[in-house]
Amino acid sequence: MTDTAPLLQVCKVCKSFPGVRALHEIDLTLHRSEVLALIGENGAGKSTLMKILAGVQPPDTGEIRVDGQPVEIRTVNDALDAGIALIHQELNLADNLTVGANIYLGREPRRLGLIDTKRMNRDARDVLRRVGLDVDPATPLSQLSIGRQQLVEIAKALSINARVLIMDEPTSSLSAHETETLFDVVKDLRNKGVSVIYISHRLGEVKELADRVTVMRDGENAGDLDHAQIDHDAMVRLMVGRDISQFYARQQHPIGDTLLEVRGLATPTWPGHRLSFKVHRGEIVGVAGLVGAGRTEMLRTLFGIDRRLTGEVLIDGQPVEITSPIEAIEHGLALVPEDRKQHGLVVDMSVRHNVGLAGLHRNARTGGMLNQAQEDHDTAEMIGKLNIKTPGPDQVAKFLSGGNQQKVVIGKWLALSPRLLLLDEPTRGIDVGAKEEIYKLMERLAEQGMAVLFVSSELEEVMGMSDRVIVMHEGAITGELMRDELSEEAVMQLATGRQKSPAA
Ligand SMILES: Nc1ncnc2c1ncn2[C@@H]1O[C@H](COP(=O)(O)OP(=O)(O)OP(=O)(O)O)[C@@H](O)[C@H]1O
Ligand SMILES: [Mg+2]
Repeated sequence: MTDTAPLLQVCKVCKSFPGVRALHEIDLTLHRSEVLALIGENGAGKSTLMKILAGVQPPDTGEIRVDGQPVEIRTVNDALDAGIALIHQELNLADNLTVGANIYLGREPRRLGLIDTKRMNRDARDVLRRVGLDVDPATPLSQLSIGRQQLVEIAKALSINARVLIMDEPTSSLSAHETETLFDVVKDLRNKGVSVIYISHRLGEVKELADRVTVMRDGENAGDLDHAQIDHDAMVRLMVGRDISQFYARQQHPIGDTLLEVRGLATPTWPGHRLSFKVHRGEIVGVAGLVGAGRTEMLRTLFGIDRRLTGEVLIDGQPVEITSPIEAIEHGLALVPEDRKQHGLVVDMSVRHNVGLAGLHRNARTGGMLNQAQEDHDTAEMIGKLNIKTPGPDQVAKFLSGGNQQKVVIGKWLALSPRLLLLDEPTRGIDVGAKEEIYKLMERLAEQGMAVLFVSSELEEVMGMSDRVIVMHEGAITGELMRDELSEEAVMQLATGRQKSPAA
């Protein structure tokens, strides 16, 4: 071992899947005590490379060196022995176990052959504290929000004492506060000599956190940026090979009649609050608020997933009873859910059949026949429009990269041509180039008269895309802002409940 050798080196690694060349002669260097950001468009090969480092899958060719010495990483345990831990892009925890049991899964402390729960939970409490999570380790994991589950994953990696911690889009479902906590954890780890490979599509985060940036494009190295060179435009240029300037180019178009009117709606999660608002044809309405403000619950209740406790929903002035997603679809609604893995995508089905699913819903009451030609057409259109990276329409969805899976879900619902499109965090995990495509699409759909109601935690996106913004705080609507009243401050005021609620 030499002191001058980098902590970790990836040399000319290649990896192919049937029909896909995921990595081609990739190089990557990680030094001690540094945060290296790894960025690239959806499908660039980031997760594939990280899974190789973590022993989840082997490379076809190429070499990995730790402290200058070649190492064989064939299994997850090999990786852990080399001090490499991966926090997956898709959460990898067991819902039915407690928080503590998840952290020590497979390496539970034992006493007389039995799991020493007491010690396990005591140790768990220590690592949970390090990520700023104040939960009892005996809590079932399923009771935690996605954001908090993410922090449990990080606690788990810390408990392994990793030298290399890989985080694959760790903040995509965290609140602003949880994100700050995470950043503190990452900076603290770096100070203690741990190196972090950090994957994110949020370039602001990369700028704040990274010591260096490595950019991938189509499975190849696209360039590196030193600390002083890290800026938004430089990163975008390397990622997509062009400049993206006019990000939120909203056109002015007339807003039509009221399509959706909600009067005094109460959701099961916030039974004490009454929600009232309207969405017009051709209008894009953003829903802002902190994580846990009740935005997802509102969409779920509108779409008939959660039960409406009281209140009225009117479409085109007519009261409607929506008690299931099928009924919602029949009334011209579509929902792109937040948790796409669970509610949006059938991972074992092809891209084609996922897109076709929505059509199947649409035809459910009229015979339920699958229209093959329509499905082919819709699939081809969505692959093109959303720039879905797949070897073809028959690829099984689980083999697509995270961001491309999300595009399939969006495509599936757009294929329905709904009158009211509900989107929950539509660009989460989506790369900059594809984000631009989704914004353009929202714009185009609104222009054609569709009403769009979208929940987003990215303030910039809410402000850039909305004709009007509804702000929620702890289950209530605390205010509405028209496009010309929008400012970051005004939204945050309402989102933190600092203003009196007119509509509660
Ligand atoms: N098991 C697999 N079988 C087939 N193809 C795969 C498999 N895993 C990954 N791929 C393909 O390899 C390419 C790289 O995917 P990868 O998940 O590494 O992208 P990524 O850079 O992490 O993208 P994202 O930002 O969307 O998460 C994609 O085209 C993907 O479809
Ligand atoms: Mg990925």
